[in-house]
Amino acid sequence: MGKITIAIDGYSSTGKSTIAKKLAKALDYIYVDTGAMYRAVTLYALRNNYVGTTEDIPALIQDLPNLALKFVPNKSLGMSEMHLNGENVEREIRAMEVSRNVSRVSTIPEVRHKLVEMQQNMAGKEGLVMDGRDIGTVVFPNAELKIYMTASPNARATRRYKELLDKGEQVSFEEVLENVQKRDFIDSTREISPLRKADDAIAFDNSDMGLEEQFERVYDFALRII
Ligand code: C5P
Repeated sequence: MGKITIAIDGYSSTGKSTIAKKLAKALDYIYVDTGAMYRAVTLYALRNNYVGTTEDIPALIQDLPNLALKFVPNKSLGMSEMHLNGENVEREIRAMEVSRNVSRVSTIPEVRHKLVEMQQNMAGKEGLVMDGRDIGTVVFPNAELKIYMTASPNARATRRYKELLDKGEQVSFEEVLENVQKRDFIDSTREISPLRKADDAIAFDNSDMGLEEQFERVYDFALRII
């Protein structure tokens, strides 16, 4: 079949990006982490006090045309990093403060409109693996392969907690679990493009699966189509 588009959606911290990245590398495809884009807009909104302790969504919407988001490849790390108006914000967008506010920002229709359009423009002749919440339902409803990843809230919070500790963030497990559950609730109940499984997506529960086994399975799904 040749190069295809692969959409990977699911709740937060299901390990979507780890698998998506590995898959893109194995297939020599482009990988796009759409969560990084929503996180970058949220960081911008936090820095300008448009969300957080005070809220000014109309001001954020007004600023959207001036917001430049770019994935810049970092050859030594073998990955792309998110740049916001020319500044590398890859580390900052993963902080807890951004996680606390990102689902709120992601409910804003104007934000979604801008980011979905950018994501759709990333499809080209090259193969694409994109992960997020609405890739198989809204961004690429015709993607050749759609995977919907799930895992228990506990398994997900445990993974996320370890990740944050490794990065030196001071958080408690309870706080991480609460954030994961709160984001899942907002993401799956919001009015515009809520997180849901596309009818033609393969449901994939990885609560009790190691990374290698997950990868082998997903890689196999892709090879069957390509
Ligand atoms: O994937 P990640 O957990 O980094 O995404 C952060 C947040 O961005 C999600 O909780 C969700 O609110 C939002 N998001 C979204 N649509 C996407 C990707 C992420 O609404 N396609």
